[in-house]
Amino acid sequence: MKNITADELRETYLKFFESKGHTIIPGASVIPENDPTVLFTTAGMHPLVPYLMGQMPHPAGTRLTDVQKCVRTGDIDAVGDSAHLTFFEMLGNWSLNDYFKKEAISWSFEFLTTKLGFSPDQLSVTVFRGEGKEGEDGYIPADEEAVEIWKSLGIPEERIYRLPREDNWWGPAGTTGPCGPDTEMFIDTGKEKCGPDCRPGCHCGKFIEIWNDVFMQYNKNAEGKFEPLGRHNVDTGMGVERTICMMSGAPTVYDTEIFAPIMAKIGELSTVTPEDAELALKSRRIVADHMRTATFILCDPKGGVKPGNVGANYVLRRLIRRAVRYSRFLGIAPGFTVKLAEVICEKYRNVYPELAENLVQCKADLEAEENRFNQTLDKGEAMFNKVAEQLKAHGQSQISGKTAFKLYDTFGFPFEMTLEMADKAGLTVDKEGFEEANRKHQELSRTTSAGSFKAGLQDNSEVVTRMHTATHLLHAALHRVLGPTANQKGSNITAERLRFDFTWPEKMTPEQIAEVEKLVNEWIAAGIAVDKKTTTVEEAKNEGAMALFGAKYGEQVTLYSIGDVSKEICCGPHVANTSELGSFKIQKEQSSSAGVRRIKAVIGNM
Ligand code: SER
Repeated sequence: MKNITADELRETYLKFFESKGHTIIPGASVIPENDPTVLFTTAGMHPLVPYLMGQMPHPAGTRLTDVQKCVRTGDIDAVGDSAHLTFFEMLGNWSLNDYFKKEAISWSFEFLTTKLGFSPDQLSVTVFRGEGKEGEDGYIPADEEAVEIWKSLGIPEERIYRLPREDNWWGPAGTTGPCGPDTEMFIDTGKEKCGPDCRPGCHCGKFIEIWNDVFMQYNKNAEGKFEPLGRHNVDTGMGVERTICMMSGAPTVYDTEIFAPIMAKIGELSTVTPEDAELALKSRRIVADHMRTATFILCDPKGGVKPGNVGANYVLRRLIRRAVRYSRFLGIAPGFTVKLAEVICEKYRNVYPELAENLVQCKADLEAEENRFNQTLDKGEAMFNKVAEQLKAHGQSQISGKTAFKLYDTFGFPFEMTLEMADKAGLTVDKEGFEEANRKHQELSRTTSAGSFKAGLQDNSEVVTRMHTATHLLHAALHRVLGPTANQKGSNITAERLRFDFTWPEKMTPEQIAEVEKLVNEWIAAGIAVDKKTTTVEEAKNEGAMALFGAKYGEQVTLYSIGDVSKEICCGPHVANTSELGSFKIQKEQSSSAGVRRIKAVIGNM
C-alpha cells in the first residue's frame, strides 16, 4: 500500500470514478438542508435520499461521486480512544438505478489494488447471509451474487464471510428510508487472530474495515417492514481518516498527517502533562476532535447553528465545552479555541473554502462560548479550592455530597471536575451523598422546572430525570415486544445516555429493536401524564406494578404510573409528562452477562 495524504486520496478517488463515467458533485452541507429527522448529515447517502428513492432525477446524472462531511455525535463519550471521531469525511460513488453489484464490487477491487496498492491477499470481505425462509413473509435471500463476483476477482471462499443483518445491512436505523444488504471490505493487518471466532468485524484490530458497498434495493416503511424499492442503487462509503491511518501505518487517526498540525498546536499550547498518561492522551484527542467538528459546524455554508441549549445548538455547545474542560488538564491557556480553529482552517481551506470564508464569525462564536464557560469553571474552581482548604484545616479528607451538589447546582461546576480536582488534592468525594442530594433536589424542583432548560448549560440533573422516565417507557416497551420475562436487572443513567440491563436469552433482532423504539416514541408523542402516589408494596403489586425482584422495599413505597403504559415502584424523580422527553433512540443492544442483555439509549434530538 502507498503512503498518501488525504488531499491525494480525495483526488485519486474522484478521478478514478470520473474515469468510470461518474460526475463529481460537491458534498452537501453538514447541516441538513430540509430534513428535520437528523441534526447533522451523518452519512454520504443522507443528502441524496430523494434521488435514491427515485422521487426526482439528479441533475448531474445517474453516476455520481463525492466527498461528504459527516458529523456523528452518538458516540461522543467514546471519543478519546484511538478510533472514534465526531467528524469525518466519506468518499462515495453512487449509482442511481444505473449499475449494480458487478460494477460496484469490481471497481472497489480495482481501486483498492491498483490505486491504493493493497495486495488482493490482504483483502477479506463480508456479505449479507440472508434471513427468513423462502416463500415466507420477510424472506430476504443471501447475497450469493456478491459472493460470486468476489470469487471471480480472485477472493477465495475462506476470505468471504456471510454475516447477518446486524453486520451486513445498511439503512437509517429506526427511521424510514432506502436500505439494503452490503458488502464490506476489510484489510487484514497480518496480526494473529485473537481467537477461533476472530473475523472481519472483530474489534481486536486484526481486520480493519475500509469500504462499504451498499446495494439499496429496499425501502424501510413506517411499519418497519422492508419493501422492494423498485430500484437498484449503489451507495458506497470509504472513510478518509481511517483509510489514511491504515495506509500510513499510523497507530491511530490522531497520528496521521490529517491531525498533525492540530496535535502539534495542542502540544505547543500545553503547559503541563497530566501524570495520568491516559488522561493526557484522551485530553489531547478530545480537544483535537471536538474543535475540528465545532469549526466545521460553525463554518458551514448553510450556517445558523450556534452554541445553545437545544438540538444541534446544544450538540455544538457540548463539543466546545468538553474541549474547554479537557484543555484545562493540559494547562492550555484561555483563547485556545480560536487558535485551533485557525490551524484547522489552514489545513482544510483548499478543499473546503467555507472555512476561510466564515472563519471570522466562527472565531467570534468560539471566543464567546469559551469565555462564558470559563467564567463558570473559574467560579467553580475557586469555590472548590475554598472547600478543600477548609477541609484540610479541619483535618478532614472527604467532600460531602451536599457540598459537591452545591458546587454543581449553584455554581454549574461539572461533578466530574469535582471528582478530578478532589483526586488531585488528595481528597475523596461522597458520591452517593451527591446522588442523594441530586435526587432530593429533583423531587422538590420537579413541578416547577421539569423539562425546561436553564440558562447556560442544560442542567444535567434534568436530563437525568428525563432519561429516568424514558427508562420506564423502555422497560414497558420491552415487556410488550419481548414478553413479561424481559425484566430489569439493572439501570444506570448519566446525562449522556441511559443504560438498561434485562433478562433475555438472545440478541434482539433489528425488528424488535425498531418496534421498541417506535412504541417509546409513540408514548412520548402521546404526551402522557406521569402520576405519583404513595402506597404499600402489596397494593402496588395488586395494581400490576413492576417491582424489582428481590429488592427490599419499606412499608410505604412510591408508585409511578404513566397512563396505562407503565406502573413501577420507584423513588423517582420523573418528569410530569412524557412529552418532555424528546425522541428516543436505542444506540446499542449487546450482551451484558449470560442471559442478560444491555441497551444503551439516548433521548432528545441527538
Ligand atoms: N451509507 C453507508 C455508510 O455510511 C455507505 O456509504 O457506511
